[in-house]
Amino acid sequence: MEFLKFVACLFVLIQVYASEERKSYAGYKVIQVLTPTEDDVIYLRQLMNSRLEINFWKEPSASDMSTFSVDPENYENILKLLTKRNLFFYVSDDDLQLSIDNEREEIERLKSASQYEFDLNNYHSLDDLYTWMDSLVAKCPKSFACQVYSIGHSHLGTPIKAFKITKESPGRKSWYLDATTHAREWISTATITNIINHLVTVGDKDAQNLIDKYDWYFVPVVNPDGYRYTWEKDRMWRKNRHQFKTCYGVDLNRNFNSTNWGTDGVSNLECSETYRGPSAGSEAEVRAVSAELRRLAPRTLVAYTMHSYGNMYLIPFGNLDKNKKCLRSKDHDEVMKAVEAMAVATEATHSTKWTRGNACEVIYPTSGSTDDFAKDISIKYSICPELRGRSFVVPSREIPLSFKEIFNGIVAMEKIIK
Ligand SMILES: *[C@@H]1O[C@H](CO)[C@@H](O)[C@H](O)[C@H]1NC(C)=O
Ligand SMILES: [Zn+2]
Repeated sequence: MEFLKFVACLFVLIQVYASEERKSYAGYKVIQVLTPTEDDVIYLRQLMNSRLEINFWKEPSASDMSTFSVDPENYENILKLLTKRNLFFYVSDDDLQLSIDNEREEIERLKSASQYEFDLNNYHSLDDLYTWMDSLVAKCPKSFACQVYSIGHSHLGTPIKAFKITKESPGRKSWYLDATTHAREWISTATITNIINHLVTVGDKDAQNLIDKYDWYFVPVVNPDGYRYTWEKDRMWRKNRHQFKTCYGVDLNRNFNSTNWGTDGVSNLECSETYRGPSAGSEAEVRAVSAELRRLAPRTLVAYTMHSYGNMYLIPFGNLDKNKKCLRSKDHDEVMKAVEAMAVATEATHSTKWTRGNACEVIYPTSGSTDDFAKDISIKYSICPELRGRSFVVPSREIPLSFKEIFNGIVAMEKIIK
């Protein structure tokens, strides 16, 4: 009897511990809202900025449905506000925790079923990913050089690892690709992982052509602390893990020292999901990526910084000009020709629709993003894809679909810019 009591006690303890371990989204709802007018967009943005209990997944814009999650305590109240305002909305996920649990089960199931050490069609922890990157070096194609190196360290001191495929040959241009600047956007790391693998193992003649012509630089996880945190503590974490007085984290995609830093579409509040940080380039991760981009810029044609979700190809700039109009780059039309080819090839792959254009026009003004910074330092084709998905939780069976449509886009764009 005493022993049973002890076991029961232990069980309760473990449960308490486990519930402290991970943020639970039990009863959280995901809500999609239509905001057709500019007034509706402004209304929803104000709601987003004034209420921390709602977490924006897709920011209010007139071009698409806005999406946010809300905790069970505030759900009814938010519905009342939306109804009062006469906005069309629906609940797209009735229990967010269930989606997160299903994802975790599927990851574990695939992991135990797979014959491979590293299943490319599954999601992986940071440590497993880094181990795989190291092991891939040995598979480097003949007459090419492959290397894993660190571009710097995160706020908590985690290395930010990069993978490169290069060739000794004068005058070669390069492509730079990165992913998971926002911690919860796992499909972006899964997709970039597949691209690296495809190029290194020379998966087809397109891959051969791409490595023959260009050097390739990849940073699969720009925000390793945040990524780790999404695996261990909170699946929906977005920012880095810099501790401030009241809250954690800077939105790294608002922290780059672009000419527009800290202006449109940012918050100066520590607790906001779009906190720009105390100053331009204040964050270790941003300084590391900025330095790497500067180092590569003179011979880099493409900077490709992957996010999710929304089926979009976005290009600079994010901000408004003096007349409060979205600011386009001088070579906007020329860049758009390449992006158009890319989008068409992506759409054709699995019959999907992709929005493309100036980021400020397509979504809403922002500033301090990776792609604006890359454009500022004269990387001509600076592109921000928002990958497929209807959530940050994308079923692993969609990883190969994402890879294929994104890779086809890259192949098509290369034909235009060569
Ligand atoms: C930001 O960029 C500007 C313009 O290139 C430069 O003068 C300034 O020193 C940079 N600031 C930081 C913190 O790197
Ligand atoms: Zn993002």
